[in-house]
Amino acid sequence: MREVHVVRHPLVQHKLTLMRQVERSTQGFRRLLNEIGMLLAYEVTRDLPLENVEIETPLTPMKSPLLAGKKLVFAPILRAGMGFVDGMLDLVPSARVAHIGLYRDPKTLQAVEYYFKAPPDVAERLVIVLDPMLATANSAVAAIDRLKERGCHDLRLVCLLAAPEGIERFHGAHPEVPIWTAAIDSHLNEHGYIVPGLGDAGDRMFGTR
Ligand code: URA
Repeated sequence: MREVHVVRHPLVQHKLTLMRQVERSTQGFRRLLNEIGMLLAYEVTRDLPLENVEIETPLTPMKSPLLAGKKLVFAPILRAGMGFVDGMLDLVPSARVAHIGLYRDPKTLQAVEYYFKAPPDVAERLVIVLDPMLATANSAVAAIDRLKERGCHDLRLVCLLAAPEGIERFHGAHPEVPIWTAAIDSHLNEHGYIVPGLGDAGDRMFGTR
């Protein structure tokens, strides 16, 4: 309950620092987010169950492990969550993708849903929700609410940066959903931005700043 995994791998920390820099280009930011996505996918899948299957090598039959059960689902919260998807799919090419369209009302900071499309049997799969910035956590909480309404019970959240307030709110609503993040920053400012943070992840990724 209330698990938070901070991924302290040196490559993740190095790339995160490059992403925080205000002078980082859109192209550089996007590439780094992809690369960190791949590394975070490695961490969040560390304990996936395996099953031994019979195979034949060029020399002999043997039993060897393969991932067990149904393919997992990556569920990016649009639009910043998309920044993780390509890197994660490079590592887990058979994964399915569910898209969850939420935007933050700039006045109320509440999540407003405008799109939801998931595999029909999503409830039977491990679903890894992707939201680079866990700030107020309104979007992440709303995404998990929606997935639970669809019957999902095996859920994880991957973000890049989290604010303490976001973790508190997220686990207040969904204490059993573990979080993976590259860092926990100091606080949220009055506009709901993570400080020191990296600014608006969606804007920086798509060049819409
Ligand atoms: N969303 C962002 O993109 N950045 C923040 O700091 C908070 C929410």
